[in-house]
Amino acid sequence: MKKCVAIGVMMGVALLMGTEAEASPKKRWDSGSNTCRVFDFDSGWWGTGAQIWRSNCKSCHTRDNDQGAPFLYMESKSPTAWNRVFYERYPQCAKDGQWDSLTMEEILKLNDYLYRFGANTYDPNDAADCG
Ligand code: HEC
Repeated sequence: MKKCVAIGVMMGVALLMGTEAEASPKKRWDSGSNTCRVFDFDSGWWGTGAQIWRSNCKSCHTRDNDQGAPFLYMESKSPTAWNRVFYERYPQCAKDGQWDSLTMEEILKLNDYLYRFGANTYDPNDAADCG
């Protein structure tokens, strides 16, 4: 019985830690191209990925759009979930050719940006993100 409680407590702690914010990631593994992508200024707020997000994807994925697209922003998905979007290309819009005007390099940069700013990536109490 004692053991069960201990395991329960440990699981609770693990769950808590899982929902806590983590410092912004500095790199990501890209399974599609088998490369390690190290983030620089171009994966920031005003970089190439951010511009593509705003000019391409956000032409549909705004709040209350008339394209039938769900509202999406960077924190709609966790970094790993964003990786899956790009690795599997599962969204219907990707299958319908809405991403076709983008080059491979542009898609990698868009993936970098969304991964970098995905859900729970900002932690003001971490040295990597504070001040
Ligand atoms: C022409 C409009 C249009 C453009 C441009 C577009 N999308 Fe979509 N997207 C849609 C629609 C409509 C759906 C919903 C399709 C469905 O499932 O019925 C969708 C679905 C998605 C989904 C799945 C929704 C979810 O909650 O998981 C993701 C992720 C997504 N799009 C990402 C993107 C990204 C990234 C881009 C830019 C490269 C993009 N979309 C560009 C129209 C668009």
